[in-house]
Parts: sequence; C-alpha cells; structure tokens
Amino acid sequence: MPKISTDAVHGHGYYDEERGVFKVPIYPTAVYEHPDRRSGRPKTSDRGMELKYSREENLTARALEKLVAKLEKGVDSLAFNSGMAAISTAYISRLKPGDRILVPKECYGTTQQLAQDLSKFGVECVLARSDTEEFLEKLESGVSLALIETITNPMVRVVDAKELARRCSELGIPLIVDNTFATPILYNPLEDGAWVALHSMTKYLSGHNDVVGGVIVVGDGDDLGELWEWRRKLGTIISPFDAFLIIRGISTLKPRFEAQSRNALAIAEFLSDHPKVRAVYYPGLPDSPYKSRADRIFKERLYGGVLSFEVRGDQKEALKLLSEVRIIKPSPSLGGTETLITYPIWSAAKSMPRELLGELGITEGLLRLSLGLEDVEDLKEDLDRALSSI
Ligand SMILES: Cc1ncc(COP(=O)(O)O)c(C=O)c1O
Repeated sequence: MPKISTDAVHGHGYYDEERGVFKVPIYPTAVYEHPDRRSGRPKTSDRGMELKYSREENLTARALEKLVAKLEKGVDSLAFNSGMAAISTAYISRLKPGDRILVPKECYGTTQQLAQDLSKFGVECVLARSDTEEFLEKLESGVSLALIETITNPMVRVVDAKELARRCSELGIPLIVDNTFATPILYNPLEDGAWVALHSMTKYLSGHNDVVGGVIVVGDGDDLGELWEWRRKLGTIISPFDAFLIIRGISTLKPRFEAQSRNALAIAEFLSDHPKVRAVYYPGLPDSPYKSRADRIFKERLYGGVLSFEVRGDQKEALKLLSEVRIIKPSPSLGGTETLITYPIWSAAKSMPRELLGELGITEGLLRLSLGLEDVEDLKEDLDRALSSI
C-alpha cells in the first residue's frame, strides 16, 4: 500500500496514457452533451453518476474526490464549495423534525450556530464538552446525529475521537468527524466507524490561504447517493478551478504539515518560556494534558500547526500584540502558508455566551496562532518584539 505522501501526489488517479498527461485538467464546463448521440446512452462519471450539468457532477471535482477519499481511507467523497456547505449538506441529509443533534460546546462557531438554527425546522441542538465524559452521556441520552472535531478550536484539546466513533457505531448514531485540524496525516475517522470524515479544505488540504472548499468522505458507498442528491439540490458543489487548486495543494500536504507542526512546537516552547505569556495550549508540549491522548490516537508524532496562548493581561494587551506583529498576519483562518493570529473572543468563540467561555477557559488574553511556513527564527523575533510592547 502506498504511503500518504505518495497518495497525496498520485491518488487522484488521473492518467491520459494516450496523450501522456498525468496532471488533472480543469474542465470549465457547465454542461455536458446528453445523452451520447451515437449510442443514445447517458454519459456517466466513473462512479456511474450522469454527466449532464456541473452543479451535479464535474470531472475536475471528481479527481479531487478520489484523491481525498484515498487519503481518508474512505470509499468515495463529495467536494463542496466550502466547509460549511459540506456541514450543512451533511446535517440536512440526515435530520428531520423531532430529531436531536449533538455538537461540541467547543467547536467552530458557525458549525455550532447552524446546529442551533435548525430549531427553526424542529431539530433540537444539544451541546456537550467533546473532550470529557459529558459527550458520551449525552450520546447515550438519545440523539439522531453527532459531530465532533478531532482537535478543538480554539483551545487545541485532543478529543478521544476513537472512543467516540466506536461508541456511536455501537449505538447506531451517525457521527460526523470534522478532521480539518488533524488532517488525514494524523487520523482517519472512518477506520473507527465514523459515518463521515469531513474537512474545511480551505485549511490544510488546499494549504495556501487562497481557496475555499469542503469535503465529505464516506466509508460506506451506500451513503453517497443521498448526500449526492442533497448536494445537487442545495447547489453546493465545488467549482472546477477551485478543485484544481486543491488537488495541487494536497500534493504537498505532508511536507507542509510536518513543517507547520515543527514550527508550532518550536513556537509553543518559545512562548512557554516568555515572561509576557501566562499559558500555552499545544498538545505537543510535554506537560500538555492532551499529549498522551494525542500520542495514542495520532498516526505520527506530530501535533498540528495550531496553538493558543494567553498573554499576561487581558483584552488590551492581547489586542496590542495583534497590532504589533509584522510577519504574522491577524486573520481568521488556519492551515495555510502564512502564519495567522486570531483573537478567539472575536472569531471562533464570537457567538458563545460568557459562561461557556469561562467553562472552556477562553479568556480575554487568549490568542490563537496557526503556523505557516516562514522561518521559525523570524517568527520568534516577530512575536518577541510584539510581546515586548505590551
Ligand atoms: C474546524 C472547522 N470546520 C469547518 C469550518 C468551516 O469551513 P469553511 O470556512 O471552509 O466554510 C472551519 C472554518 O474555519 C473550521 O475551522
């Protein structure tokens, strides 16, 4: 079996032997000729879906879907025009009035908000800490669908995704695992029985902060048709140009993720020793309460490119640091080539009530860093100068 770096380069499976082309072409077409004029048969993609209209099936998206399915050890996947398009399509395909959906107290804000907004359609949203027993208890209280993120945002807690996926599969509860922060390099949720593995491909998979996309990978081919129909009806497929960019981005996923994880560990150690820093949250630090779980669950001794830290002070000091960094950009995303810094109270945790912020430990002095590919010494200098100013 090829290793993940090999699959990341070749896993799209595209090869035009006759013309010697092994790079995936962009098919900028909205329509396909239909049906085949000579045979009278409809034209189909390799998975037997009719090629009629690009909102339904597109050949560049198809190559990307095969690639991500391979990395996630799934049978197939569907590519979307954003991570939220993938999440909303997954929710809508599974839920009906009277159902309950369980999502983490600590997760990407819009994922949680959307689950809460489903009350408009008679779906109840239940919240629980995904890094504690509370999630298991709520699962057992009866839910129709659950979602977890492998690594939480913004406190970078490693969730016992293995145990939760196993329990959900025993209870017959479909589990969506948002694997955006961990990537398939660290973890493959489908191997533990998750219903789907999902990514915001805007982050590590595309990797360059220049494209928005999402994907749902299924472990059971029978689940694909229903999701495919909802994607068609909701119109949430990715564009061929964006699919091409993500295929290109994925080919360098492994070396990028390794370098970003190395930078994150070095910066976490640097910040841990800094007098202006009160606390650092990163599962790769030897004293992190999540290190042993990460070492048990993750396939590599890597801990991802995201960390959070608390400055000595509160909002004033945190925002001062944000305005003083030069190489590091204050910007809301993660997983790309540029190192980005965010103020979680204004971004990931914006919609959370004050008590929940307290329960999760999200303070006014907290900042989140997503490490890029710059030289780590330049990043330390940038942070040191900004920290000295507070
Ligand atoms: C973990 C996670 N899941 C999903 C999303 C949503 O993805 P997108 O912004 O591509 O719609 C985000 C966005 O930040 C995220 O961090």
